[in-house]
Amino acid sequence: MKYNAGITGIGISIPKKVLTNKDLENMVETSDEWIVSRTGIKERRIADENIAASDLSTEAAKEAILMAGIDAKDVDLIIVTTVTPDMLYPATAAIVQNNIGAVNAAAFDVSAGCTGFIYGVTIATQFIETGFYKNILVIGCDLLSKVTDFTDRNTCVLFGDGCGAVLISRTEEKGIIDEYIMADGSGADFLSLPAGGSRMPSTIETVNKRLHYTFMNGPEVFKFAVKAMPEAVTKLIEKSGFNLSSIDYLIPHQANIRIIESAAKRLGISMDNVGITLDKYGNMSSASIPVTLYEDFKNKKIKKGDNIILVGFGAGLTYGAVLIKWML
Ligand code: COA
Repeated sequence: MKYNAGITGIGISIPKKVLTNKDLENMVETSDEWIVSRTGIKERRIADENIAASDLSTEAAKEAILMAGIDAKDVDLIIVTTVTPDMLYPATAAIVQNNIGAVNAAAFDVSAGCTGFIYGVTIATQFIETGFYKNILVIGCDLLSKVTDFTDRNTCVLFGDGCGAVLISRTEEKGIIDEYIMADGSGADFLSLPAGGSRMPSTIETVNKRLHYTFMNGPEVFKFAVKAMPEAVTKLIEKSGFNLSSIDYLIPHQANIRIIESAAKRLGISMDNVGITLDKYGNMSSASIPVTLYEDFKNKKIKKGDNIILVGFGAGLTYGAVLIKWML
């Protein structure tokens, strides 16, 4: 027997501190005009020094559970998707498990770059559909400011911090309709945090060479992204038996407005039906999709019964998309 899965609660946590393009003009050689015209980003949020991924994740998870109306003890599994965990290990998900009192839950992290949330939802859905679990928290959380070189204008204008969580539960109706995830590891070097792992353990030299910050080949990632997002949506649509005309809304990963506009154009989707938050939050990696979903739900752009596609791409390189029927 196959059970149904659906999103029954959603929550976010966004740091209060704002870093504007004007602020960045005082830090690197850039301009508000360049950043807005090349990326669409106007400002982003930056977490305080003492705040880590588990702090934002805990707050977002509590809101999602509250909305779903369940007790933390009823959560079976916590998945945190992140490339900026509190530490390399233990998993940030285990820290969240303790923070929220989900004493009956298993916990692990997923590293799939900015596609993390799509991977997390896909994994959770399999656990629900087989009947193995009933309630799973999927938390997309990244604090990219912690691994961004604020002397590198190629990257520091793009990234911000944030977190979005959903509770995925066994439901009567099918809320998560289909999933598609994929990777192209030949592009692994285009977006990475080179040092601090087993390939290049931390030394004074790695610190001096600034190898603990995000490295990005922007043009290569751009080329990949404009192809990967439409491809993921097309594959998902083919697989699901739906067609694009029955899709009400698209929530893409928020990396660059030009990438999003190009994908929407290729898919024939009007920008009126595309969720955008990058102007105020920049690229929050795993958090961008759930935060945009949350905001467009709260401001009523998304309504109960809508067919929504979530689509992402990121480090790995990874990409993927999920088709959901909104149930809240
Ligand atoms: N301010 C001013 N100039 C900048 C700049 C900045 N912040 N960053 C780069 N430039 C300069 C470059 O040095 C280059 O100058 P040059 O021609 O003298 O060498 C020029 O602007 C154009 O650079 P280019 O890389 O061609 O710009 P672009 O139009 O490709 O935009 C990105 C750069 C990073 C915005 C774009 O490549 C991009 O969005 N890539 C994808 C990144 C992404 O999605 N990452 C996250 C994946 S999850």
